[in-house]
Amino acid sequence: MKIAVTTASGHLGSSIINRLKATIGKENTIGIARTPDKAKHLGVEIRKGDYNSKADFISALEGIDAVLLVSGMDHPDNRIQQHRHVIEAAQANGVQKIVYTSIYGAEEGNAFSPIVASNRQTEADIRQSGLKWAIGRNGIYIEPDLEYIDTYIAEGGIINCAAEGKCGYTSRDELAYAYFKLLTEDSLQGGTYNLFGETITQQQLAEAINRHYNTNLAFKNISVDEYIANRQDALGDFLGTVIGGIYEGIRTGKFDGRSDFEKVASRSHKTLDEMIGDYRLVV
Ligand SMILES: NC(=O)c1ccc[n+]([C@@H]2O[C@H](COP(=O)([O-])OP(=O)(O)OC[C@H]3O[C@@H](n4cnc5c(N)ncnc54)[C@H](OP(=O)(O)O)[C@@H]3O)[C@@H](O)[C@H]2O)c1
Repeated sequence: MKIAVTTASGHLGSSIINRLKATIGKENTIGIARTPDKAKHLGVEIRKGDYNSKADFISALEGIDAVLLVSGMDHPDNRIQQHRHVIEAAQANGVQKIVYTSIYGAEEGNAFSPIVASNRQTEADIRQSGLKWAIGRNGIYIEPDLEYIDTYIAEGGIINCAAEGKCGYTSRDELAYAYFKLLTEDSLQGGTYNLFGETITQQQLAEAINRHYNTNLAFKNISVDEYIANRQDALGDFLGTVIGGIYEGIRTGKFDGRSDFEKVASRSHKTLDEMIGDYRLVV
């Protein structure tokens, strides 16, 4: 069985490819990348695939049995059509199964909702594709917070608008394990699964970072408007609004909920401390 993974040059795509190499073998694993040179180091066959080009995917999905579609990074209005290029190319090539990395969260009510809504449209497109399918709704990655520790120290703490809200975090390695299962286990077919670990507050996140990094971070809450304006200044309108909207969603409980990780992985999700420990081993 040959499995192809999109965005092979990205963090999640490459984690999933490494997991597949170790399980189904490198000869059965194909990476698809917008910029193939950036994925060559993975040691598997790399084919060209830009989400803006259906023709790229018509070629890239030749002879493929199952494809993992990693959600794109573009503006939500563009993503839906970009993802359709992959779905339509899979249909045209007789690919049997498509697995999609969607996002957990609310389709309306905060500044992140347009992204969630566009992911929900792709989910609907996949369910209607006629292919076998499985969908994961990812929690928030822990790694960006760990990459940000020096900034948190410089800023005097973890400062955002999440208040007491809880958020289900995960890691790209934990997701890679879950997606390997979704790609290969027939019993998980036709299901939509929430993928994250224990749900925690920002104060609990600060305390976990302090345990591992010997820091003295505390969480400081600010208003939603102030935080979104702050992120827009730092990251530009699009990304600043997306990031601000995530913490607005956490504040209002939209990233708190029930995870299906154990059902998918047949084991419990790693704890926050285990994920931070794993991260420290490789960085
Ligand atoms: N759950 C979360 O906390 C969270 C956080 C951030 C993002 N996400 C979502 O999860 C996805 C994967 O995250 P990540 O950490 O792996 O992101 P990442 O490391 O930034 O990788 C993004 C990947 O998308 C590729 N890409 C961008 N535009 C493309 C296009 N037009 N066609 C094909 N590929 C394109 C990039 O290719 P190049 O190497 O050519 O640039 C890169 O491989 C993201 O795309 C986003 O939808 C989730």
